[in-house]
Order: sequence, then C-alpha cells, then structure tokens
Amino acid sequence: MTEINPALDRILTLELARVTERAAVAATIMRGKGREKAADQLAVDAMRRELNALDIDGVVVIGEGERDEAPMLFIGEEVGTKNGPKVDIALDPLEGTTLCAKAKPNSLAVLAMAVGGTLLHAPDVYMDKIAIGGQYEEGLIDLDLSPTENLKRLAKAKGVEVSELGVCVLDRPRHQPLIAEIRKSGASIVMIDDGDIAGVIATTDPVKTGVDIYMGVGGAPEGVLAAAALRCIGGQMQGRLVTDSQSQKDRAAKMGIEDFDKKLSIRDMARGDVIFSATGVTDGDMLFGVRMLNNKIETETIVMRSSTGTVRTIIGEHYKYEKFALDT
Ligand code: FBP
Repeated sequence: MTEINPALDRILTLELARVTERAAVAATIMRGKGREKAADQLAVDAMRRELNALDIDGVVVIGEGERDEAPMLFIGEEVGTKNGPKVDIALDPLEGTTLCAKAKPNSLAVLAMAVGGTLLHAPDVYMDKIAIGGQYEEGLIDLDLSPTENLKRLAKAKGVEVSELGVCVLDRPRHQPLIAEIRKSGASIVMIDDGDIAGVIATTDPVKTGVDIYMGVGGAPEGVLAAAALRCIGGQMQGRLVTDSQSQKDRAAKMGIEDFDKKLSIRDMARGDVIFSATGVTDGDMLFGVRMLNNKIETETIVMRSSTGTVRTIIGEHYKYEKFALDT
C-alpha cells in the first residue's frame, strides 16, 4: 500500500479544494429551485469529473450509496488516473440537498481523502453522535453518559453554567426525548434542519457559532466525514451505528463491520493521514455560499490536513465565468 507522499499530500490539498469548488458551483445552478435530486446530480457529475482527473489511485468508501442504488460515486467506485497514491475517499458532493433546494444555510460540497484502507466503510444508516471542540481534556464527553451528565462535565470544563452552553441538534421527531432533556438542563439548543457535518464542525468555534457540543442521530456517512474534519482541526467525537433491522446489519457486515454496537472513536472512523475540503454552496457559519457575480464566481473553501493540523480558508475568484460554469 503506497503511503501518501508528503509533497504530493500538499499538492493534493489544493487539488481537493478545486474538486469541492467545482461541485459547489455546479449545485448552485439549482440553489433555491426546489429540486433536490437535480442539484445533487449536478454536484455528483462535477465532483466525479474532477476526481477522475486527479493523479490518484482512489476508491470511494463513503459515497452516494451502495453500488446497486447509486450509478455514480457509489461505494467501491474507483476514481482517479491510477497514476498516484492509493487513497480512500469519503464524499458528499452536496451535503444538505434540501438546504440547497430551499436556499437555506449550511449546504456544502464535502470531500475527505485518506491513506488507502484507513477510513471506516460506513453503510448508509444512521449514527448516534456526540462531538466537542479541541480545547478540552480527552475523554470529557462520552456517548454512554446521559446528555445531562455530558453537559455538566462540559460546563465545568469550560467554567460556565450549563445554561450558557449551546447544543446543536438536528430538528427531527426522533430527537424529542433528547431535546426535552437538554431543555430541562437549561442549555440552549441550536436546532438545524439538515447538515450535521457543519453542525459537528461548528463545535470547534463556539464563539462564532454558539455551538459547544453536537448531540444526536444523523447519517453515518456524514459521521465519518465529520470525524475526518475533526482529525485535522482538533476535537473529540464518538459515534455508534444505528442498525435496527437485519438488512442494515447485513449491509454493515458486507462492509467489514463486525461489532455493530461498537462505540467508534474518531480514529476508528478516520485513522490515517487525511485531507478534508468543504466549499460552501449556501451561506453558513463556516463558509459563504457560491456567489454568482456579474464578472466572476466567488467560492469559499476550507481545506485542512491532519498531518500538519493546517486549516486554510481559500476564497476563489473565478473570472472565466462561462468556462468555469459550463465546464461543471
Ligand atoms: P443529505 O445531504 O443527504 O440531504 O443529508 C442531509 C442530512 O441532514 C445530514 O447532514 C444528516 O446526517 C442526515 O441528513 C440526517 O438524516 P435524516 O434527514 O434522515 O434525519
């Protein structure tokens, strides 16, 4: 297995920014148009095209779905020219398809790339997740503790009252008991419609986002992508797959998962060197969305590497407007 050459790794960092930029711009054509599938398809096509132009020997491990249900960027699809390092790729060309279709905040084009064989192959099931930023002692929070206990521990570590904490939760009926418990504790809830990758990353900058902790059940693929981001930017996260039915267990087993109930650490989800890139499609806390201006397109991308802990925000100004838009 070829390790990512450090020099190539640096070059790939920029290449990945280009890939998510293209996917974001492509989806923007459908922003606010109420057509989730069409927006997603444009992003998928653009991301696939850009990935296939890269000098990598890549395999999609988190993708658009399992082979029989996703024609493109399915789990197991090989991408790249094969003329480069073996890498695992986790992607979500349009994270928050509904957010994009409704032009609501925090829709992103997202990609993580890691040394081959080091990303968790997660089926498209749910995952129970908990995450905080990188400024706390390791082991402070735990998925097996109650939400109340986790909030008490976090408040103590932060030196504030529980009522001063912000908790990001997906607005879903399944979260009613969780929401009731958080309300009882006195903490604030930052309720999101969709997009829990951004929700997890928000914990790394509570001053800007008002989010100290992420809690609740979202997609497992999004869990792996969020873990990849935290490997770079710092933070704590745990996840546990939710496999209620036999068919979900079978799908997980097919991907090599033996212990369905395992409490997954960040490194269980992303253990090798990883690069993470996300470009805003709609405006959000972290990134502004694609701006279609008269003479150019503007994009904002966050791109990070775990090996160096470098986080860069790249503002792209694309003056060859027609070429950029039409090529995607
Ligand atoms: P999509 O990009 O596939 O629309 O996912 C959006 C999302 O909100 C994720 O961020 C989250 O993990 C998942 O959906 C939650 O799933 P559900 O909408 O079924 O509760």
